[in-house]
Amino acid sequence: MFVFVFWFLMLRICQSCPIGILNGKICSGHGHCAEDVTTGLDETCVCWDGYTGPDCSQRVCPSGRAWIDYATANNTAHAEYTECSNMGYCVYETGLCSCRDGFEGAACDRMRCPLALTQTGQKVECAGHGRCLSMREAAVQQDYISLWYSATYDDWDADMIFGCACDKGFGGYDCSEYLCPKGDDPLTPGVDEIQIIDCICTIGSSCNGTLALTFRGQTTKPIPMDATPELVEYYLEQLSTINDIEITFSGGERDFSLCDEFGTTALITFLTEHGDVPSLNYTLYPGKAGINPQISIFTDGTASALRPALESVMGTKEEAECSNHGTCDTATGQCLCYRGFTSSNGLGRNEAGVLGDCGAIEQNSTIYISFDLVEYPNATQDIPCPAVVPRWSASSGIAICSGVGNCLPDRTCNCTDGYEGNACEFKTCPTGEAWWDEAEFNGDRAHRSDSVCSARGLCNRNDGTCTCDAEWSLFDGNNCNQFACYVNITDECSGNGRCATMAEFAQEALMIGSESGARIPVNYSDAWDANRVRSCLCDKSPGVWDYNTSSNAYRGPFAYAYTDWTGYSCSHAFCPTGDNPFTWGENEVQAINCSATDGSFNVSFRGADPPVRIPWNSHVDKVELELESLPTIRNVLVTFADPTGANTTTINQTVCKQGGQYVIIEFISERGDLPLLYIDDSELTGETNITEVIKGTREDVECSAAGVCNREIGICNCLDGHYSGADVVPFRELGAVGQRGDCGFRHTSTDDPKWYNILFQYSYVFDLGIEEDVIEIDVEGADVAAST
Ligand SMILES: *[C@@H]1O[C@H](CO)[C@@H](O)[C@H](O)[C@H]1NC(C)=O
Ligand SMILES: *[C@@H]1O[C@H](CO)[C@@H](O)[C@H](O)[C@H]1NC(C)=O
Ligand SMILES: *[C@@H]1O[C@H](CO)[C@@H](O)[C@H](O)[C@H]1NC(C)=O
Ligand SMILES: *[C@@H]1O[C@H](CO)[C@@H](O)[C@H](O)[C@H]1NC(C)=O
Ligand SMILES: *[C@@H]1O[C@H](CO)[C@@H](O)[C@H](O)[C@H]1NC(C)=O
Ligand SMILES: *[C@@H]1O[C@H](CO)[C@@H](O)[C@H](O)[C@H]1NC(C)=O
Ligand SMILES: *[C@@H]1O[C@H](CO)[C@@H](O)[C@H](O)[C@H]1NC(C)=O
Ligand SMILES: *[C@@H]1O[C@H](CO)[C@@H](O)[C@H](O)[C@H]1NC(C)=O
Ligand SMILES: *[C@@H]1O[C@H](CO)[C@@H](O)[C@H](O)[C@H]1NC(C)=O
Ligand SMILES: *[C@@H]1O[C@H](CO)[C@@H](O)[C@H](O)[C@H]1NC(C)=O
Ligand SMILES: *[C@@H]1O[C@H](CO)[C@@H](O)[C@H](O)[C@H]1NC(C)=O
Ligand SMILES: *[C@@H]1O[C@H](CO)[C@@H](O)[C@H](O)[C@H]1NC(C)=O
Repeated sequence: MFVFVFWFLMLRICQSCPIGILNGKICSGHGHCAEDVTTGLDETCVCWDGYTGPDCSQRVCPSGRAWIDYATANNTAHAEYTECSNMGYCVYETGLCSCRDGFEGAACDRMRCPLALTQTGQKVECAGHGRCLSMREAAVQQDYISLWYSATYDDWDADMIFGCACDKGFGGYDCSEYLCPKGDDPLTPGVDEIQIIDCICTIGSSCNGTLALTFRGQTTKPIPMDATPELVEYYLEQLSTINDIEITFSGGERDFSLCDEFGTTALITFLTEHGDVPSLNYTLYPGKAGINPQISIFTDGTASALRPALESVMGTKEEAECSNHGTCDTATGQCLCYRGFTSSNGLGRNEAGVLGDCGAIEQNSTIYISFDLVEYPNATQDIPCPAVVPRWSASSGIAICSGVGNCLPDRTCNCTDGYEGNACEFKTCPTGEAWWDEAEFNGDRAHRSDSVCSARGLCNRNDGTCTCDAEWSLFDGNNCNQFACYVNITDECSGNGRCATMAEFAQEALMIGSESGARIPVNYSDAWDANRVRSCLCDKSPGVWDYNTSSNAYRGPFAYAYTDWTGYSCSHAFCPTGDNPFTWGENEVQAINCSATDGSFNVSFRGADPPVRIPWNSHVDKVELELESLPTIRNVLVTFADPTGANTTTINQTVCKQGGQYVIIEFISERGDLPLLYIDDSELTGETNITEVIKGTREDVECSAAGVCNREIGICNCLDGHYSGADVVPFRELGAVGQRGDCGFRHTSTDDPKWYNILFQYSYVFDLGIEEDVIEIDVEGADVAAST
C-alpha cells in the first residue's frame, strides 16, 4: 500500500508530460514537454532527433529502401525510408538494426558479397580474388578484366545488391574459380589486328610536346612526339592490357619519329591481343609552342590518309578458352589439352610455348585424334574435332564431340543444347537473370538473363547442376534465381506466414478507392524482381471477440484482438491499436438510404470478399450482425432514423422501405477516417445510396500513442496512468477501460477507484522505486517484464 501511495504522488508531480517507461524521467530525458496542438495542454513530448515514442524512450533506427514491400501503385514498390529496409528488426533500446544474416549496412540495406575459401582455408569476401561492388559501382567502373562497359545504373537495387568483380584470372560469382588461358585456335586461319596512327605536325611549328595512348581503359605515360618505334612500343607494352605488339613507321623525311612535319604513319600490330580489339585513343599534351599536331587513328580495314597504300586490319584470331582444344579445369585454371595439342607461345602462329593454352599442334605426334581416320573409320570427311570421354558419363566411352555435338567445318564442336565445353564434355547449368552484374546501357536495365546459376551459385559442369550460395541460405531454385525466405531451422517464416514474391505481395496490397469504397487492384509484375525477390508474407489476424488465452496468436493481458505478425521472419508482432487519449476524436458515422420493397443488397468494407447479403426487410439486429461478420469490421452500432437523424428504431422496422429508410452506422472499433461501405444493390427492387455523416477523427495508432509496443511479443507497454481502452467509449475524450489491449484509457483522477480496481482485475503488480520503475504483468502464466 505504501508503494501505491508513493506512486500516486509521483503521478501528480509528473502529470504534465509522459514519464519515460525505461528511466522514469519526463520524456525519458530525450525530449521536451510541449503544448499539444489539439488540446492546448502542456503535455506532449517532442523528442530530440533520434528518439521516438510518446515518452521519447525509443531510439530511431536507420531506414533504407525496402527490399520487399507492398506495391503502392502499379509497378511501384521498394519504398524509401523503411525501417531497417524490411530486412532486419529495430532494437529500440539502441537504435540499431539487427539484420537478417547475409545483409549488412546500418539499415540492412546491403546484400553481402559472397564468401569463399582462399587457398589458405579462410573464408573471405570474393575469395580474396575480387572486389565487392554495388550494382551502381559495377556499372560505372571499367577494368577490362571483369567489367567491360561504362554505364549508369539507377534501379532500386543500384546501391543494395553487391557482388564480386573478379581479378584477372579468376571467375565464378564468388571468384573462387580459376580461369584457363585463352588463345587462338591453331586449326583455323586468323590474322592479327593492325591499327594505324597518322601524325603530322603543322607546317612552321615544331612538334615538341607529348601524347598519351589509351587502350582498354589504360593510358600510357606521355610519349614524346618524336619517339622512335621502339620507344612507343615500350610505352604501350607497359600497359597491363597489352602484352606484345610490333610497331613500324613509314615516314617522309625520317622513319623514326612518331610525329614530324612530313607526316609519319605508324603501323601497330597486336601480336597477343587477339580478335577485333578496340581502337587506341590518344590525348595530346602540346609543347611550349602550344600547337598540336594532326593525329588520326585508322582501324578495321580503313586506310591511312597520309599513305593510302597502308591499310589497317581487323583482327580475326580467336581468344578461345584452351584455344578450343582442351578441357578447362576451373579448380586449377589449367587446360588439359586434347591429344595432338600442346602449349603455345600465344602469338597464334602455331608455335610451341609455355602458356598452357593448347594453342599449338603437337609436333611429331603420331596420333592426331582429330585427324585419325583409322580410329573413326566411318567418317565421311576429315574430322578434326576432339574426341573425349565425357565428364558427365565416365562409362560412355570416347566419342567425337562426346557423341552429343556436330563437328563443324572450322573443326569445333557444335554441342547439342544442354552440353558445353570444347568437346561437349560438360553439361550446361541452368541459367537465370543475374542477381548482380554489370549494366551495359544507361538506365535501369541490368540482370542479364543468360547468367549461369543466376550469378549466385557455382556450376558443377560434370552434372550440370547449380550449387546455390549457401552461406546465408538466401537463394534457391535449380538456377538460384529465387530469394529464399527465412527459415527458423524448422519452419519457414517461423510458422507465422508464407513465402511470397513481390508480385504476390502486391496482390495483398489494400488499395481502397475513397469514393466508392471498392478495392482497386495493384500489380507488381513488370520489374525484374517481381517473381524473384521473396520474403515472408506474415499471417493477418481476423478480429476476434473472445478473451482467449488458449490461442497461440492471442496477445496481451487485455487484447480482444489478434494482431498481425510482422518482419522478415514473421517473428515479431504489431501491437493493438487505439485512439490517442491525449486528443479529442469522433467515431466515423455513415448513413445508408435504402428505398426498396423487395430483394436484397450486398455490403462489403475494405475489400472484404465475399460481401454480406442483407435482405430488404432485415431488422436492425440482423443488419448489425451481418456487418460485424465481415472480417474487416469488428463492432458497429446500427440505428434507424428519420431524415432529421432522430432515432426511430423499433424492433419491427426494416432496413429498406418505400420512400427510403435512413440507416445510421457508427463504427465503434474501426478508427480514423474510413472508406465508405461498398454497396451492390443490383439485386434490390429499389435503390440505395450511402453518405458519410461524420468523418472519423479518432486515431488508430499502435498502443494509442500512449504506450510503447514490445514488438517481440506484440504487447503494449503503457505509460503511467494509461490502460487498455474499450471499443465502446462513453466518455469520448478519456476513453474507457476495456480489452482492446491498446493504451487508450487515461485516468484523470488518481483517486478514482475505478482504475486501481483494474490493477487487481488484471493481476498487475507495481513496484516503484525512486529511480526505477518495474512493471510486471502476470497473465495466465506468461511473465512479461519491462524494466530499466
Ligand atoms: C576512343 O575515342 C573514340 C572516338 O573519339 C570514342 O568514341 C571512344 O569512346 C574512346 N574510347 C575510350 C575507351 O575512351
Ligand atoms: C618547342 O617548340 C617551341 C616553338 O618552336 C620552342 O620555342 C621551344 O623551345 C621548343 N621546346 C623544346 C623543349 O624543344
Ligand atoms: C620432330 O622430329 C624431327 C625428326 O625426327 C626432329 O628433328 C625434331 O627435333 C622433332 N621435333 C620435336 C619438337 O620433337
Ligand atoms: C562403322 O560402320 C560399320 C559398318 O557400317 C559399323 O559396324 C560400325 O559400328 C561403325 N562404327 C562406328 C564407330 O560408328
Ligand atoms: C549448331 O547446331 C544448332 C542445332 O543443332 C544449329 O541450329 C546451329 O545452326 C548450329 N551452329 C552452327 C554454327 O552450325
Ligand atoms: C520455429 O517456429 C515454430 C513455429 O512458430 C516454433 O514452433 C519452433 O520452435 C521454432 N523453432 C526455432 C528453432 O526457433
Ligand atoms: C493497376 O492496373 C490495373 C490494370 O490496368 C487497373 O485496373 C488498376 O486500377 C491499377 N491500379 C492502380 C492502383 O492504379
Ligand atoms: C496483375 O497480376 C495478375 C496476377 O499476377 C495477372 O494475372 C494480371 O494479368 C496482372 N494484370 C496486369 C494489368 O498486369
Ligand atoms: C480460442 O482459441 C482456440 C485456438 O485458436 C480455439 O480453438 C477456440 O475455439 C477459441 N475459443 C473461443 C471461445 O473462441
Ligand atoms: C438517396 O436515396 C433516397 C431514396 O432512395 C433518395 O430520395 C435521395 O434523393 C437519394 N440521394 C442522393 C444524393 O442520391
Ligand atoms: C435507438 O432506439 C433503440 C430502441 O429504443 C435503442 O435500442 C437504441 O439504443 C437507440 N440508439 C441510439 C443511438 O440512441
Ligand atoms: C411487430 O410485428 C409483430 C408481428 O408481425 C407484431 O405482433 C408486433 O405487434 C409488432 N411490434 C411492434 C412494436 O410493432
